[in-house]
Amino acid sequence: MQDLPPFFPLLWKVRSFHLVTHGRGLIFEATPTAYDMSSSGILKSSLAKKYAMALTGLFLCSFLVGHLLGNLQLFIPGEEGRIAFNEYALFMTTFPVVKILSYLTYASVLFHVVDGIALTLQNRKARPVRYAVEKGSANSGWSSRNMGILGTLILVFLVTHMQNFWWKMHFSEMPMHEINGEQLKDLYTVVLDYFNPAINSFAAVAVAVYVAGMAAMGFHLWHGFASGFQSMGVRHETYTRWIEAAGKAFALIVPLAFASIPLYLYMTQA
Ligand code: HEM
Repeated sequence: MQDLPPFFPLLWKVRSFHLVTHGRGLIFEATPTAYDMSSSGILKSSLAKKYAMALTGLFLCSFLVGHLLGNLQLFIPGEEGRIAFNEYALFMTTFPVVKILSYLTYASVLFHVVDGIALTLQNRKARPVRYAVEKGSANSGWSSRNMGILGTLILVFLVTHMQNFWWKMHFSEMPMHEINGEQLKDLYTVVLDYFNPAINSFAAVAVAVYVAGMAAMGFHLWHGFASGFQSMGVRHETYTRWIEAAGKAFALIVPLAFASIPLYLYMTQA
């Protein structure tokens, strides 16, 4: 027993090892056995956590698409944009199905954060069986190695963002906008004023925070999007390549489009 290599105990805990191609490198992948799944609580909870991270992360990606489409109305100038955005904001805060989706979003953010912290801490402790052992660093990019830090930066952005608009919309006094005799909360003006240097002396800082937040989100999604599909067991010779390409396109387009809103509002009002 003494002469056996240090990884020998792994052989008892996995059904098979196989080399698979991944990106530009090869990974040595361990398939857990039923025995392993039931006996190793750590592995089991680690896989469950990865699955939950993936599920909540991909749900939040769909939220981002909806949120971005709604926010694009901020590009419509003047009274037309004000009416469109404020009617949209009213719909988003009152329509029952959307309200349920909102609660699901809050729960997903919370779960994704708590699960992410737990997974990061758990990964730091010694793991008896590694799910995938990388050969070299060829396939572990900067983003994948810094998901925790990037997630923390996004969380900081999100807390300030919720305080800027969401808190105001739901819990504090708002300017009003009369549309067809009805008084609506004027969220359009609140957002425009926030990025207007003539009204907010910290508008440039606000824009910088949004652009930095979107940079962190881009890097987080660069690895996270495709990794989410992988954690949920979606692996296919052809489709995985397409999912990775879609993930990279998503990681570029969505944060760039979000960042363009405060930049546009700042520049057009400066
Ligand atoms: C230019 C970028 C953005 C602008 C102008 C913007 C604007 C807004 C506004 C006005 C609200 C309040 C809506 C309401 O409560 O009815 C809101 C809510 C929210 N935003 Fe953003 N947002 C931006 C980017 C983001 C990003 C990148 C994220 C995620 C990382 C995000 C996450 C949220 C969440 C979770 C809410 C609460 C949604 C809800 O209550 O259902 N936002 N945003």
